[in-house]
Amino acid sequence: MLGARRLLGALRLCSSVSCPRPRATAKLRVRDALGVQDASGECVTVQGWIRSVRSQKEVLFLHVNDGSSLESLQVVADSSFDSRELAFGSSVQVQGQLVKSQSKRQNVELKAEKIEVVGTCEAKAFPIKYKERHPLEYLRQYPHLRCRTNALGSILRVRSEATAAIHSYFKDNGFMHIHTPVLTSNDCEGAGELFQVEPSSKIKVPEENFFDVPAFLTVSGQLHLEVMSGAFTQVFTFGPTFRAENSQSRRHLAEFYMVEAEVSFVESLQDLMQVMEGLFKATTEMVLSHCPEDVELCHQFIASGQKDRLEHMLKNNFLIISYAEAIEILKQASQNFTFTPKWGVDLQTEHEKYLVRHCGNIPVFVINYPSELKPFYMRENEDDPQNTVAAVDLLVPGVGELFGGSLREERYHVLEQRLARYLDLRKFGSVPHGGFGMGFERYLQCILGVDNIKDVIPFPRFTHSCLL
Ligand code: 4AD
Ligand code: MG
Repeated sequence: MLGARRLLGALRLCSSVSCPRPRATAKLRVRDALGVQDASGECVTVQGWIRSVRSQKEVLFLHVNDGSSLESLQVVADSSFDSRELAFGSSVQVQGQLVKSQSKRQNVELKAEKIEVVGTCEAKAFPIKYKERHPLEYLRQYPHLRCRTNALGSILRVRSEATAAIHSYFKDNGFMHIHTPVLTSNDCEGAGELFQVEPSSKIKVPEENFFDVPAFLTVSGQLHLEVMSGAFTQVFTFGPTFRAENSQSRRHLAEFYMVEAEVSFVESLQDLMQVMEGLFKATTEMVLSHCPEDVELCHQFIASGQKDRLEHMLKNNFLIISYAEAIEILKQASQNFTFTPKWGVDLQTEHEKYLVRHCGNIPVFVINYPSELKPFYMRENEDDPQNTVAAVDLLVPGVGELFGGSLREERYHVLEQRLARYLDLRKFGSVPHGGFGMGFERYLQCILGVDNIKDVIPFPRFTHSCLL
């Protein structure tokens, strides 16, 4: 916005008289145009898509949106500009003067001097209809067009702001960003949900395989982060991860983005939980302050009551219970679960959601899980006979598990019994460390109240579906 102001300041020199033609005009984003407080006839050009057309006897009103904000810019034109091509969905370039609006609804409007239709839009065939509020399920059929609606526009702007906010949280807190590989030869989580990668021209002779070992799309950047945490004490990565999970659930994707962090010289889960809670709260506060109208739209039209639920999460300290306590709570619940809760059995979504409700809809950390439920790398708690590991999951309202993390088993002799590989890191300058991963789409679901994970990612991939 500052940039736009400076630009406008320079342009003001030519604004006292009607602009001579041809002349230079400033290209302005709709957001920047809307942010101008004291418009006085600056010559500007705005490009975007028509969101509404209102034709009166002598004037034509258009609303033009370029994706930079939820609000569109009102263009006022002489009715002589009116044409069939100026229709909902068409792309246009409008040149004119930015002036104070007479209406209370907006600060500024663009008095058009020239309107060019860049691309026409055939209303009948266009699946997005003027003035209709389409359900998210309907829009899912059109991954190539749904970003032109208010709902997806807002969700994707929030996604972009949240991405930036996550990077700034880590930067402000002394973490170094690492690009962990997408192609890998390890199965970090060991859950067997890997996508194998091979060249598309099938190579028949084994000696001619592209890699010498089987290669997969990564399920987690954790092991690579652990390598880096042997040199840099606080690291993070934020990239796509892939899991061949045969699930059509509202919280699983085959390709999702994960935010992962690894911290060296950490000896208690408490230290990790502090980072997790700090990341959640700081990111959310930043999103709320950077795009309040987009969040508001979701809270108003997609998930009513979500505003209060989110405030409740932000103002309370997250709770901590052990897995053992969680099982006791579930056993005493009046609710009948599909999966009977008992020690040694993993928590299901129904259990997670119950636990969060039981905790007053405040996010809750569940710690110290039985070792047989968790991957090899988690640190043993040495609490026989329970035999738990220092694992932590953060459960949040509406979604269930949002973060998964643990202290890592840094002791050579303990790991030796479990796994041959991975040990070199423990031989050379091993330190106690731990980390976590947060599903980015689940985070967006949680703050916006979006029920289905497929609506918070631009192009969802899940079983039987890889559109575009
Ligand atoms: O709990 P997970 O499997 O943990 C790990 O992968 C660790 N290696 C992370 C670490 O310690 N560096 O996955 C972490 C989070 C989950 O809590 C969940 O929010 C999300 O990733 N997640 C998924 N999100 C969407 N679709 C899926 N199929 C997901 N699987 C996990
Ligand atoms: Mg997990």
